[in-house]
Amino acid sequence: MTTAQHKIGSGFGARSTADDVLDGVDLSGKLAVVTGGYSGLGLETTRALARAGARVVVPARRPDAAREALAGIAEVEVDELDLGDLESVKGFAERFLASGRRIDILINNAGIMACPETRVGPGWEAQFATNHLGHFALTNRLWPALVDGGARVVSVSSTGHHNSAIRWDDPQFEHGYDKWAAYGQAKTANVLLAVQLDALGKDLGVRAFALHPGGILTPLQRHLTTEEMVGYGWIDADGNPLNPSFKTPEQGAATQVWAATSVQLDGLGGLYCEDCEIAELAAEGVREGVRDYAVDPEQAARLWTLSAELTGVDAFASTR
Ligand SMILES: NC(=O)c1ccc[n+]([C@@H]2O[C@H](COP(=O)([O-])OP(=O)(O)OC[C@H]3O[C@@H](n4cnc5c(N)ncnc54)[C@H](OP(=O)(O)O)[C@@H]3O)[C@@H](O)[C@H]2O)c1
Repeated sequence: MTTAQHKIGSGFGARSTADDVLDGVDLSGKLAVVTGGYSGLGLETTRALARAGARVVVPARRPDAAREALAGIAEVEVDELDLGDLESVKGFAERFLASGRRIDILINNAGIMACPETRVGPGWEAQFATNHLGHFALTNRLWPALVDGGARVVSVSSTGHHNSAIRWDDPQFEHGYDKWAAYGQAKTANVLLAVQLDALGKDLGVRAFALHPGGILTPLQRHLTTEEMVGYGWIDADGNPLNPSFKTPEQGAATQVWAATSVQLDGLGGLYCEDCEIAELAAEGVREGVRDYAVDPEQAARLWTLSAELTGVDAFASTR
């Protein structure tokens, strides 16, 4: 497969923070939407974008918690959104579109990881539904504002995408559940959404990227036991971080902020990034870079069709 998945020498790295990548960048007059922008990496992303002058809309599953976390940041507004509920997605998108504003940056950041088997909506597996299908429906419903803004759309994926390609024969885990395979499939879907959205949107001025933010201790790990995290070598028995490659939340937010704003990425799209760089294709057996199945245009188009069938939403239906 020919690929544009090659480093460009951004000058940033694993220890760069969101403020580092926005140093000297003026986002005044820009509007960003950051799902989950009130916890972990999303919170640091919102803070950094607002500090650089952007107005940030934070659609939140728990609006009261979001308002509390974001108190004191003037340029932020909170609305309600549950990505596991397509009516909620529709409601948020309709309220936003009714405001008549365009979107310059959409960061699909919210997510859940390795939860016990949970079913949402019509029986969908919760990680695929929340992390992927909710963001698919949101992005399509917000399309008029995205195309008006010539937006960048950023999918926050994970190195967890190495765990699983799309399971075409059983995407909803109806024949046996594995929490890490489910996270992996959902995170592969995040990358494929960026690949297909970029293919569909680039001639209209909308570009899309996906990324792995790094490993960061946040509430994302809420479904794991201490014993599991000790076993993975992430923390000691008292909960202290052990893995020296872990990032701070400020460092963890950097790649999504870079993907959303950097002029170094102008003219590019449909790419997976890590450590504020375009990632290389992963070598066999190495959990670094992006797996070929996650950036495969055929898989991306097939997932778009499946997601449109499942959600009943497709901004491009009339053009294909
Ligand atoms: N932390 C890491 O090491 C790491 C590594 C790789 C990738 N990532 C990715 O980075 C992203 C952010 O993770 P994080 O570490 O910042 O986790 P986090 O602190 O748990 O934040 C996740 C956010 O997603 C929101 N969310 C969850 N379910 C939702 C739903 N149904 N509808 C709307 N919002 C929902 C959460 O809202 P509530 O708080 O209200 O539940 C929260 O605001 C995720 O996509 C994750 O997969 C993280």
